[in-house]
Amino acid sequence: MNEKQRLESQQVKADNSADKKSEKDYSKYFQSVYIPPSLKDAKKRGKEEVEYHDDFAIPEVFRGMGEGKKFYIRTYGCQMNEHDTEVMAGIFTALGYQPTNTVDDANVILLNTCAIRENAENKVFGELGHLKSLKLEKPDLLLGVCGCMSQEESVVKRILEKHHFVDMIFGTHNIHRLPQILNEAYLSKEMVIEVWSKEGDVIENLPKVRKGKTKAWVNIMYGCDKFCTYCIVPYTRGKERSRRPEDIIQEVRHLAAQGYKEITLLGQNVNAYGKDFTDIEYRFGDLMDEIRKIDIPRIRFTTSHPRDFDDHLIEVLAKGGNLVDHIHLPVQSGSSDTLKIMARKYTREQYLELVRKIKRAIPSASLTTDIIVGYPNETEEHFEETMSLYREVGFDAAYTYIYSPREGTPAAKMQDNVPMEVKKERLQRLNALVNETCALKMKEYGGQVVEVLVEGESKKNSEVLAGYTTKNKLVNFKGPKSAIGQIVKVKITGTKTWSLNGDMVEEAAAIEVE
Ligand code: SAH
Ligand code: SF4
Ligand code: F3S
Repeated sequence: MNEKQRLESQQVKADNSADKKSEKDYSKYFQSVYIPPSLKDAKKRGKEEVEYHDDFAIPEVFRGMGEGKKFYIRTYGCQMNEHDTEVMAGIFTALGYQPTNTVDDANVILLNTCAIRENAENKVFGELGHLKSLKLEKPDLLLGVCGCMSQEESVVKRILEKHHFVDMIFGTHNIHRLPQILNEAYLSKEMVIEVWSKEGDVIENLPKVRKGKTKAWVNIMYGCDKFCTYCIVPYTRGKERSRRPEDIIQEVRHLAAQGYKEITLLGQNVNAYGKDFTDIEYRFGDLMDEIRKIDIPRIRFTTSHPRDFDDHLIEVLAKGGNLVDHIHLPVQSGSSDTLKIMARKYTREQYLELVRKIKRAIPSASLTTDIIVGYPNETEEHFEETMSLYREVGFDAAYTYIYSPREGTPAAKMQDNVPMEVKKERLQRLNALVNETCALKMKEYGGQVVEVLVEGESKKNSEVLAGYTTKNKLVNFKGPKSAIGQIVKVKITGTKTWSLNGDMVEEAAAIEVE
């Protein structure tokens, strides 16, 4: 499409948007592709079996679509989104596009968005505001919004009403349709919207351009069926569906052969892995037991829900080896009352019992967690229970959040009766405890020798290298550049709240761990 056509199409969009406000019926403007999201439909969980597709291919007609063009993807949110970005980068590359790391020389810009809290969404709307001027300067630029926010009706409506310069909106289930969506956006005068609300499929063999050469993400399952009352994810990511074990194992083997040193298995709730299989009895513990035999130094997973963390998994994790001794186990609250309202389906005591079991089986295990403060009905006593649970478990670190109501979730209908000042004050108190505990734990590392997977130069000082221990502690240390991408031994000489400083141990220089 040339510049003139593009400008004309902008005009049509602008005209349409004026009508849209009054009519609130967008469908007639979208003859080409208009599949809007629906949170209500997203909640319906079908009984139909998961369909596996392993025949993804770029249609012949789209090959070369990206010749001479560049793409830029900005990613918000969790590892799942980071990994989706790698898949989209793979599709762009297969279409002939080149990557760029600035918006200024991009021909296509995608915002891969996160809907987990209001401030995550605000960042995206702020960015759209910035991109508007770029889009006005360069009408040929294609601008797309994808990721979890696209799955929300309210977001799609807001973009239609206030950001009609956006060319395409597509959902988390539509990533594999990127070639068709781009094609439609080039041809269409209207905003292209394709957001499937309910999806039970698993698409294999999608191309990927991974961000690093040392660490890689591998999806083991998609979606979430837990429906914690505050959470938007079950609506934005669809129902739980597991990849077949043979596909996962093949991918991990392939990454090992390519020289990757660390794999993180991804799922919103990895412990529910395999629950949806109708033909085999195969769960997360079984998968880990097979993956640990693959020749790759470190295997992590995220995130585990306490509820499905079964004894077999603990038994397998206790075998150690390449299964790292760090478990992220979100607790959300230390109060059984609050946990009940959150529909987490475990009590404080059950969580503590699980922690005891894990520590008994894996004495070196470090635990980290996620906590929400200021939930509806959370009293001072409830909050104190969170503080005391934090101390009792002795977490290494935590991600802490103020509760953010998400439209369409059950909690959004509850009365949010904790004043914002109280929420903020609780968050501060909790963070002070988190920092203090973390600093104390870090002190224990003083003088020790730890194994570090070296990622590269430190962000702050190019003279210093940075990497992570098995327990995911950041270590900055002096060592040769040849150590990058290797696992090396580092003697800790100084400790801070969130990181460690050290020197590479000379005699153990660049140990290659097979
Ligand atoms: N599947 C993961 C969580 C993914 S979301 C799990 O269940 O462990 C990451 C974290 O964001 C959650 O653990 C929770 O602490 C936080 N979170 C989710 N929804 C939120 C909301 N509405 N307000 C504040 N924090 C929220
Ligand atoms: Fe959200 Fe709960 Fe599912 Fe985690 S387990 S993604 S918090 S609904
Ligand atoms: Fe955000 Fe979606 Fe991940 S809401 S946290 S990007 S699953």
